[in-house]
Amino acid sequence: MQEPKIKFDHVTKVFQTRSQSILAVKDYSMEIAAGEFVSILGPSGCGKSTLIRMLDGIIDTTEGDIFIDGQKVNYAKKKMPQSILRKMGFIFQQPNMLPWFTVRENIALPLRVFDLKGPEWEKRVDELLELVGLTEYAKAYPAEISGGMLQRAGVIRAMVHDPEILLMDEPFGALDELTREQMNMELLDIWTRTKKTIIFITHNIEEAVLLSSRVYVMGTHPGRLVEIVDLDLPRPRTLSMITQPKFIQYREKLEGCIGEIDLSKIK
Ligand SMILES: Nc1ncnc2c1ncn2[C@@H]1O[C@H](COP(=O)(O)OP(=O)(O)O)[C@@H](O)[C@H]1O
Ligand SMILES: [Mg+2]
Repeated sequence: MQEPKIKFDHVTKVFQTRSQSILAVKDYSMEIAAGEFVSILGPSGCGKSTLIRMLDGIIDTTEGDIFIDGQKVNYAKKKMPQSILRKMGFIFQQPNMLPWFTVRENIALPLRVFDLKGPEWEKRVDELLELVGLTEYAKAYPAEISGGMLQRAGVIRAMVHDPEILLMDEPFGALDELTREQMNMELLDIWTRTKKTIIFITHNIEEAVLLSSRVYVMGTHPGRLVEIVDLDLPRPRTLSMITQPKFIQYREKLEGCIGEIDLSKIK
């Protein structure tokens, strides 16, 4: 088998607080091939963000290893080399734009971080603005554009340094349903064109089925992997698929997984 783009190998994370130790993620393993679109689905507090924060080197693992392109990346806090960080782009629930910078300046920020200068990078910013229809808002300030536009800006800001991997932590959770559906379809379009490897975190079952090729279902107490569901649905995906029997079957299967998790929480 080809070397996985991203690999979690029996990763455990324990947070030590003054009064207790919290087992946030227990024995988590996952292998993602280059160009795949996978989702991590689970209720609040099951350790989804913790997985991403270990992958991007904000926090280290307690046990187990994480690899990108076969290279071990579980560095101690914030010590990850720029060369590995550059392979990743992050999109969070809140777009976190700097209010005193224009939309274009915000989007270009990672270029400063990674010291990428020159006309080819400027051109890339313009192309990405065009890709998500923000060209005419390039000189606007974040407060002057809508929530959907801000989130689009967040998506292309994560891509501006041309990362191979996009890590999306509940990126559209704060948007209304219509805008979210639209963003989902735009994201699929971007993925089809650019073939990035995408990890998409969500607690929305329908979104996970619509977007991904495989869903990692997590449960709480302790945060852990409970099921891996492969989604055999044709691409390109369309919103009309949501009402088709196979889509509904997958949705119900995942609802079943999540439901069992909730029950086990009560005991
Ligand atoms: N820095 C931290 N210190 C202590 N506990 C934490 C810390 N970060 C997360 N946790 C705990 O770890 C668990 C998983 O959190 P998180 O990864 O944010 O879950 P999710 O993103 O799935 O909602 C939760 O119980 C949370 O309270
Ligand atoms: Mg989270």
